[in-house]
Amino acid sequence: MIPVDQLFQQRGGASGTLESPLDHLVACHRRIEARLAALERVAAQWNSDPRGALDTAASCFRFLDTSGALHTRDEEESIFPRLRPWINQFELCFLDKLEHEHADADQTYLELKSAVQARDGARYRPLVNKLCEMYRSHIASEDALLIEMGKRVLTPPELAGISAEMKLRRGL
Ligand SMILES: [Fe+2]
Ligand SMILES: [Fe+2]
Repeated sequence: MIPVDQLFQQRGGASGTLESPLDHLVACHRRIEARLAALERVAAQWNSDPRGALDTAASCFRFLDTSGALHTRDEEESIFPRLRPWINQFELCFLDKLEHEHADADQTYLELKSAVQARDGARYRPLVNKLCEMYRSHIASEDALLIEMGKRVLTPPELAGISAEMKLRRGL
C-alpha cells in the first residue's frame, strides 16, 4: 500500500517556486486544495476504513500545520504589508477580509482537529464541509485578485525581499 504522504508528493517540491513568490503562492494553493479534497474523502472513509481515514487526516494536518501555516505567514507578513501603501480603499478592505478569513479558517481547522482527536465522525463532517467551503472560496479570491495586485504593485527588489523572507521562514 502507498504511504499516505507519498500520495501528495509532487515534482519540484515546495522550494521549487520560492524564487518567484507569486508563483509559489499559487502552487501552494493547489497543494492546500489537494489536502482539502483528502479531508473530504476522510469523511466518506470514516466508517468503512477508520484507520485509513485517521492516517489520511494526520497526513493532511502535518502539511497544514507546517507548509499551510507558513503560507499564511508569507501572505500576512511578507506580501500584504508591501501591498498596503500602494493600493486603493477597496483593495485595502480586501486584504482585511483575507486576514479575517485566515483567523476564521484557523478556528474551524482547530475544531476539525479536535473532532478527529475525539474520533467524532458526526462532528467532523459539518466541520470539514465548512472548512472546505470557506477555504476554497478564500483561495479563489486570492488567485484572482491578490495575485493580480501583486503583479501590478510589487517591484523586482520587493519580490526578491519576499523570496528571501520565505526562504528564511523555511530555514533555507
Ligand atoms: Fe490566504
Ligand atoms: Fe493563500
